[in-house]
Amino acid sequence: MIFISGCDGSKNQNINSLSYKETQERKKLLDKVEKKPILDVGTGNGWLAIVAAKYYGYHVISIDNNEDNVYLARANARAFKVGKMINFKNIDATSIPYPNDFFGTVISYQTLHHTRYPFKVVEEMFRVCKRDGRVMISELNKEGFKLYHGEYYEYPEKYIKSLNKKILDINKLWKFLHNISSKISIKESKYTNLINCVK
Ligand SMILES: C[S@@+](CC[C@H](N)C(=O)[O-])C[C@H]1O[C@@H](n2cnc3c(N)ncnc32)[C@H](O)[C@@H]1O
Repeated sequence: MIFISGCDGSKNQNINSLSYKETQERKKLLDKVEKKPILDVGTGNGWLAIVAAKYYGYHVISIDNNEDNVYLARANARAFKVGKMINFKNIDATSIPYPNDFFGTVISYQTLHHTRYPFKVVEEMFRVCKRDGRVMISELNKEGFKLYHGEYYEYPEKYIKSLNKKILDINKLWKFLHNISSKISIKESKYTNLINCVK
């Protein structure tokens, strides 16, 4: 069976060709992973976790509050032969059922702007991360948002009502993260901002 991912807007992503550009973007985040265990927040169709397992050999716990996406992500991981390396769970990231200081690294790729309460999600990501662990967040910048959600970009009311997709204010996110991180850095590329925090 072939599963097509529409989750992050890449029309050319399917089970046979995880798009090169998107894979490179995900690798920018995964290159920085040092500590385990790893939690992936907002797995969508599973691509970040699949790249982590396939190219880095990482075992990952991946959560998403959309049951259909979790189902699809599992199928995609199986098709990429990394099904056993990823534990996909149907969990809401505003309330992550893991103890404080559990994960070495908590990662999130293009997810926060899909969540209703992004700052609550960030708080939870920090809570479950070990002291001195890493929280890494990749979010679309304006160009990236236009590319992926162009049709909504022009009509903010429409997208807020329909999908709650809106561009995340990176300055606001930065300030928030700055207050709860012991160290923080940001790297902007053409379409994304990658924020790397030490708890
Ligand atoms: C664009 S997709 C993520 C893409 C994915 N990280 C990748 O590498 O392709 C965003 C996902 O965030 C999920 N999401 C939104 N709100 C959430 C929440 N409160 N808890 C967990 N997942 C959430 C959505 O269901 C969707 O699957």
